[in-house]
Amino acid sequence: MALVPYVDNPLPALSKLHNSSAQFRFANRDLHLSQDWKQLGVAAVVWDAAVVMCMYLEVGQVEVKGRQVIELGAGTGLVGIVAALLGATVTITDRQPALDFLSANVKANLPPDSQGSVVVSELTWGEGLERYPAGGFDVVLGADIVYLEDTFVPLLRTLEHLCSDSTVVLLACKIRYKRDTDFLDMLKQPFRVEEVHYDKERDIHVYKCWKLPAKRDL
Ligand SMILES: C[S@@+](CC[C@H](N)C(=O)[O-])C[C@H]1O[C@@H](n2cnc3c(N)ncnc32)[C@H](O)[C@@H]1O
Repeated sequence: MALVPYVDNPLPALSKLHNSSAQFRFANRDLHLSQDWKQLGVAAVVWDAAVVMCMYLEVGQVEVKGRQVIELGAGTGLVGIVAALLGATVTITDRQPALDFLSANVKANLPPDSQGSVVVSELTWGEGLERYPAGGFDVVLGADIVYLEDTFVPLLRTLEHLCSDSTVVLLACKIRYKRDTDFLDMLKQPFRVEEVHYDKERDIHVYKCWKLPAKRDL
């Protein structure tokens, strides 16, 4: 089942999404991610935002080593895999139809001694949030997850649920449409949002966000 419709004749710049695999080197390891655009659509290809997020994590400005990390809308799992290789304990999440493919990529790319630090789990934004500890994560990661207007409210609710006052949220975003900046405006109500990196070649913005203290009625 395709998670979203796809086209058979993509622009040349998008043709890499039709390859059956994508290779990277992060955290001193060669990673081979399987891709399957035709079967699973957006969840089964590695998006540039994920690559930029991994580069940003490698630099270490946001420390993930020893931290409890959750990745939302993980797709192939590249970001969560790299976070685990950098020493994090990671919950890698996506919608149910994406999970088998995601799990296979995680298994194929983590050495045996890192497999125990990763859990792959269903998280459809806004649903079943009670299965995840409120404010229970040090770092929340999301690469290219801001693109569907219908999901903006549940995505925001999910971020608010997962974050404590000390949680850092990192979002790597391709800003394609005005609605994407509308989400950032929505996010700025409960979170402080700072752009911390821009990858010009791939046109990807990385935002770091912290939950603002709750406003008290006077
Ligand atoms: C553009 S892909 C990005 C995948 C991956 N993060 C990357 O950058 O390569 C968007 C991801 O968000 C997931 N997604 C979309 N809507 C979702 C929802 N309502 N709840 C959870 N995940 C969702 C999709 O399944 C997909 O994996």
